[in-house]
Amino acid sequence: MKYGILGDIHGNLEALEAVLKKAEECGVERYVCIGDIVGYNANPHECIEVVRNLPHDGIVRGNHDEYVSNSRDLLGFNPQAASAVRWTRDQLSAEEHRWLANLPFKLFIRPDVGPRFQIVHATLDNPDKWGYIFDRFSAEACMRYQASDVCFFGHTHTPMCFIRNDDISQEYYEEIQVLPNHKYLVNVGSVGQPRDGNPQAALVVYDTGANKIQLHRVDYDIEKCQRKIHEAGLPERLSERLSIGR
Ligand SMILES: [Fe+2]
Repeated sequence: MKYGILGDIHGNLEALEAVLKKAEECGVERYVCIGDIVGYNANPHECIEVVRNLPHDGIVRGNHDEYVSNSRDLLGFNPQAASAVRWTRDQLSAEEHRWLANLPFKLFIRPDVGPRFQIVHATLDNPDKWGYIFDRFSAEACMRYQASDVCFFGHTHTPMCFIRNDDISQEYYEEIQVLPNHKYLVNVGSVGQPRDGNPQAALVVYDTGANKIQLHRVDYDIEKCQRKIHEAGLPERLSERLSIGR
């Protein structure tokens, strides 16, 4: 059973369509989404529409999904992110706001074949506090709450894997074979706004039968997405960063 794991789409329809095409080529049958469908880029409504209609087994809430769907102040956001959240709030219907507001923070996914796994946007230990996992110490706190061999997360927009055996190691990865008696906390990177210096969209495919995780990077029409950001009047910095993957 092959899952497409989609993270941090952020309203980038061009990137989303490109990774879905790649997923289809890889034989993906089901999807999960680890949150932040909206925010930053110019097609939040379209991305919600596409993601909701995928054959999926679960979607969790990201911080942008949360703040777009309420009217709280945006003190924790940088000025460009805050302005994108405000813009996105105005684009969505009341029904879409409610749908985003009701997404769960974390989920267990139970495939037809293979072991169950978990998904969360930021951290399992405090999923509603939106902390960032960049190192082994924050990974350790998260993994104390990990009750499955594999957990997928996002939020940093940087693909990275933490593996716990006796100790915790931190690795960049392309392919991971899940081994017995190990735990894997896997950041799937970002579909719509990568920040690891590679502007290509990220897609993770999890083959639950073979227990194998594969990271793909996918070209997409960045210029088209940038034109839309410009036309929407969103901050230019949000367009520029897509070219450099930062
Ligand atoms: Fe994000």
